Amino acid sequence: MKKKKIIIISIIIIILIISSILIFLNYQEMEVTIKEKIEVPLNSKLTNLDNITNLKNGQIITDEKTIDTSKIGEQKINISIKNKLGKVKEYHYTVNVYDDEKPSIIFSKELTIEEGQNIDLLKDVKVEDNSQEKITPSVEGNYDINEPGKYQLYYVAKDSSDNEAKEEFTLIVKEKKKESSQNDSLSNPQETKTFTTSKGFKGVIKDGITYIDGYLIVNKTYSLPSSYGTSLTSTTKNAFNKMQAAAKLDGINIYIASGFRSYQTQNRLYNNYVARDGKAKADTYSARPGHSEHQSGLAFDICSHDLDGQNACINSNFDNTDQAKWLAQNAYKYGFILRYPKGKTNETGYKYESWHFRYVGTDLSTKLYNNGDWLTMENYFGITSEY
Ligand code: DAL
Ligand code: ZN
Repeated sequence: MKKKKIIIISIIIIILIISSILIFLNYQEMEVTIKEKIEVPLNSKLTNLDNITNLKNGQIITDEKTIDTSKIGEQKINISIKNKLGKVKEYHYTVNVYDDEKPSIIFSKELTIEEGQNIDLLKDVKVEDNSQEKITPSVEGNYDINEPGKYQLYYVAKDSSDNEAKEEFTLIVKEKKKESSQNDSLSNPQETKTFTTSKGFKGVIKDGITYIDGYLIVNKTYSLPSSYGTSLTSTTKNAFNKMQAAAKLDGINIYIASGFRSYQTQNRLYNNYVARDGKAKADTYSARPGHSEHQSGLAFDICSHDLDGQNACINSNFDNTDQAKWLAQNAYKYGFILRYPKGKTNETGYKYESWHFRYVGTDLSTKLYNNGDWLTMENYFGITSEY
């Protein structure tokens, strides 16, 4: 009888101990700090668990995941945490991605035109922004193309978060030179020289501009006068528009990233490259002022907005793109040539440029296309390209 009593008492004691442990655990309530809302800058590194601090008596059961912070705005995050008794509680918080970085504007500090000459001040301007938005810049300030002088103007670019970049540039309107009459040039016959190339083509140098077989030539050997050129020629622009429309039908979107460049613009570009890479290296990819085909108004560099964010505009990342392949196979149909083909540095004087095209008309472009094995103007005409 006594033994039975002891067993019953022991069982009661054990039950009491177990219940106390359970009660104790239950009272060890879970503690966690999760801010209702966190604010992070665009493109910052963040995981869904980064907002959880001070977790006590609980276990996170949601997997750690990187939060996409590449877009501005709010997103809801859900987290599940289990307490010691296995009870799961859901938590929610908001991540707000904001952008406080202003866009950067790529532009020329100085532009020069002749009195009365129209200019598209936004033509060679590019805007880059961390938000990857397409931002169209605007021009602030007053100028008069009919009034010679120096005008201080501004490029302004704003992203969708109202971060604004403002950069100063100068527009110089030069006084118009008196047009020389037909008689002047006739009375000065020294201005025209002729020669024959090693392949028998006739060359003419007139007013400092070289034509071979009627085609304007600019390379390291043949230059243009510093005052030459104002914009892309209308023939070039129209042919580009046709090519752009045809490309689009094939799903290829292209645009002119750099078209006409004045002597002054090329001078500044080239000097920047020399300062960065030294003269010898700069000469392999950038023309000296007066020697750039961009000054002829017949050449341009092509990029594609479909490649935005891939750093493939006017650099070798463009080489293997569908856009470059399409251009290499089709540009000739619209009168354009791939001016600096691969492996032809010893002829052109420049490294391969898969993005640079030059208008020559379809007769010559078809010959130089050469069924896809592009020939250079230098090889075809039998001329050099050397400083
Ligand atoms: N990149 C070409 C050679 C130019 O500067 O005109
Ligand atoms: Zn170019």
